[in-house]
This record gives sequence, structure tokens and C-alpha cells, in this order.
Amino acid sequence: MARQFFIGGNFKMNGSIESIKKIVQNLNDAKLDPNAEVVIAPPALYLLLTREHLRKGIEVAAQNVYDKPNGAFTGEISAEQLKDSGITWTILGHSERRTILQEDDAFIANKTKAALDGGISVILCCGESLEQREAGTTVDVVTKQLKAVADKVKDWSKIVVAYEPIWAIGTGKVATTEQAQEVHAAIREWLKKEVSSEAAEKTRILYGGSVNEKNCGELAKQADIDGFLVGGASLKPAFVDIINANS
Ligand code: G3H
Repeated sequence: MARQFFIGGNFKMNGSIESIKKIVQNLNDAKLDPNAEVVIAPPALYLLLTREHLRKGIEVAAQNVYDKPNGAFTGEISAEQLKDSGITWTILGHSERRTILQEDDAFIANKTKAALDGGISVILCCGESLEQREAGTTVDVVTKQLKAVADKVKDWSKIVVAYEPIWAIGTGKVATTEQAQEVHAAIREWLKKEVSSEAAEKTRILYGGSVNEKNCGELAKQADIDGFLVGGASLKPAFVDIINANS
């Protein structure tokens, strides 16, 4: 069975009530590929607003979740609270949180487990730095990041993997189709060996890093690229063209 094309829009720490309402309205009015699964991730403050205005059939993701159910954890949000608010996905392991906020593999794995246990699906990010790519360690780096999760989570049916080379994020320097396909194929091979053949066959592996309406078509044609995690371009009307890249 073919894997359903998946497009995530990660707004990061961007947007206002006014601009997010406009993005939502644009998606509500657009003709979107009916075969594509679309999820948008506004900042936490705007999750409810987004859910309230966004049409059914498009899901909303948090950009983070904590690994405890509730309690004295100032500034954090639980999977239970996301679920209560109609938020069905979360992004985890984004390189900006790994590098700027010092999140390590073990913490990301704990959060992934907590999200899944709480009924929240996960867009699990991985990716190498330019230094690591130049040292030829890309696949080792990425599979080590994923292994931390595999050690704690056996069922990958509610996980979408997003491969995002750090050097391609927000830089305008997109990975070539060959570079992306090569890593995606390696991730799928790793899933087969370390998780299961079923996980390898069914898990969507997204590419993220300077995806735009011009480069998405070629990337979408690659055998192991099942969609995109889009940053900057998800804030623009052309996000619709990226959603429709596979139609
Ligand atoms: O989560 C999205 C990625 O970090 C990609 O961001 O499309 O702005 O490069 P970008």
C-alpha cells in the first residue's frame, strides 16, 4: 500500500492572531490534494485559535510537549492538555530545540513516548550538522537520534519521521534530491533492521529544509520522500502549492 503524502507546516515562533487567521483562511479556501495529509504547527499560544478556525480534515500540531502528564512544570504543556484541546500531533526533536534548548536524545525519546501514550501522534525530527555531513557521519548521526526513540517505543504507527539536515534549515540551501533520497533510504533500511519490516514499509519519512513551491516537485518524486516538514514557506500562500506537490 502506498504511503499517504504528508505535509507539515512548522510556523516556529512566528505569527500573530491576525496573520495566523489569514494563513488558516487561505488553507480553508484552497483546493488541496484530497490524498494529502496536512498538519500545521503554530506557536502554543495560537493552537486553540488555529483549531477553532481551521477546517476539518486539516490537523493541528504543537511544536513541543512535556514528558509528564501534569503537575508543577512551569511553562510546559502535557499530551493530555493537547488532546483536551483537539490538538492531535506534536513536533519533537527539532534541531532548533536540540541545539538552542539543549534537548538530548534521551529527553526527546521520553517526550515521544509520553506523547504517544497520551494519544498524540509525533513528527519526529532528526538531522545532521554541516560538520557531521562533511565528516561522512550523516547516517550514523540520524540513526543514533532515532535509536534513542526505538529503545523506548516499539509501535511506530503514530510516528512520522522528518529528516532535516541542519545546514538546509532556513538557509535557502536545500539538499539535492540525491542527498535527501539517500538519507531517507538509509532511514527506511534502519527501520527495517531495528524496528520492523512493517514500520519500514509504512512510516512516512518527510524531508525538511528550505522546501519551497519550486523545489518540492522534484523532491516529491523520490521513492523514499513521503512529504515535507515546511518552515518559512508554510507561512506563505505558496504553502498550498507544496501541499499539492504530489497531485
Ligand atoms: O521544521 C521545519 C524546518 O526546520 C524547515 O524550515 O523550511 O524554513 O528551512 P525551513
